[in-house]
Amino acid sequence: MTESAAQGTLRIGHSPALRGVCSVPGDKSISHRALLLGALCRGPVDIRGLGLGGDNASTAAALRALGVPVHVSGSSALVEGCGFSGLREAKAALDCGNSGTTMRLFCGLLAGRPFETTLTGDPSLSRRPMGRVAKPLRLMGARVDGQIDSERPERLLPPLVIAGGNLRGIDYVLPVASAQLKSALVLAGLQATGKTCIEEPGLSRDHTERMLRYLGAPLAADPTSRRVVVDPSGWNGELSSSAMEVPGDLSSAAFLLVAAAVVPGSDVTVEQVCLNPTRTGVLDVLRAMGANIEVMQSSEAMGEPVGRVRVRWAGPLRATRIAGDLALRSIDEIPALAVACALAEGRSEFADVGELRVKESDRIASITRELARAGIETEQTSTGFCVTGTGGIAPKGGRVLPDRDHRIAMAGAVLGLLSDEETTVPSDDIATSFPTFAEILQALGANLKF
Ligand code: S3P
Repeated sequence: MTESAAQGTLRIGHSPALRGVCSVPGDKSISHRALLLGALCRGPVDIRGLGLGGDNASTAAALRALGVPVHVSGSSALVEGCGFSGLREAKAALDCGNSGTTMRLFCGLLAGRPFETTLTGDPSLSRRPMGRVAKPLRLMGARVDGQIDSERPERLLPPLVIAGGNLRGIDYVLPVASAQLKSALVLAGLQATGKTCIEEPGLSRDHTERMLRYLGAPLAADPTSRRVVVDPSGWNGELSSSAMEVPGDLSSAAFLLVAAAVVPGSDVTVEQVCLNPTRTGVLDVLRAMGANIEVMQSSEAMGEPVGRVRVRWAGPLRATRIAGDLALRSIDEIPALAVACALAEGRSEFADVGELRVKESDRIASITRELARAGIETEQTSTGFCVTGTGGIAPKGGRVLPDRDHRIAMAGAVLGLLSDEETTVPSDDIATSFPTFAEILQALGANLKF
């Protein structure tokens, strides 16, 4: 548990009903891909609605370090795409900050480039497993070196050094459903000789597949068999686009939607969010808990469904069980959903969520710790955790220690809306994905000081 000395503090008090219509910054996963795939296009690409958080800034900086001009101004960016062959050896290590997506996607990208690159990250990213991406990239012919974890020698940690080039396609079954890993192999596969076939045990988010198809890349994806085939033979290696529009981030919106579902009298609409079905588990879970949710798809952006979501408070929520495919479709929203469960009636269970152990923090440990601090009963299980809801009794306030994890910080803030005591949250951690979180929540009527 760490909290940097420079952190600002967000103060949360007991809040009245949240009401209003808002939008959230661009989807973090899609923004990473828009920047990276924009760099692989030929010529200038205009990106609108880009995510504003520190993770997306890490991807933009890494591209610049590889010689790609990326000009960001607020939520707009101009990327001067130069194709795979336009990437140049970086003069120093690429700092991926807190962003696992940056590190893993760049592993795949750089595995095909004929030069050496070092990838580093902050203390949280430096604890995250990279063997899952190193292993198949080595099978494809890249050299990937990293640090051996002294506590778990089978685990490979950052910093990573990649020497790429001369890849061959492989058939590979992923050991875990992971969009970062799948995307790394797709990016490597596009640069390889021969076909790369990837199969995953569950369908992780498929933004890379949708965007690459939209950009004309030689890729076929079948969500039913969870197989992706990349076959670059006969392809001229070029992606083409001049403009990209990133929809709002449902993972950020999830904190506002959960807040609306638990704060009595609330009525909140979030507009222009991505409604990709691999990401909408949070809406299904809240509905199963008795929340009043309306979803309306209105458009498409780069192959992604986009629309608005309205949540109206409808009384106390019921406990639920989240497992299997539903857990995968709501994996990043589990900190937010754990707050909904903490305030519901009855005992909820999160199963099949072992991947939470290797996110920005060990989220099973950090969620259960923060809920326990607020006086809520939790229990860790072999594949997840259980939460016994207070059924309306106010949680305790106090100081949230999110372990530099943006989603734990925001979950702590939402729980604080129901507390009779003040809750404090280190606000800089939130900026990793949702720097306007406090501003938007305050505009909806929350009792916040920052
Ligand atoms: C992401 C994939 C997910 C998710 C992460 C972002 C991505 O991880 O948890 O926040 O942008 O590809 P997995 O690689 O485990 O699917």
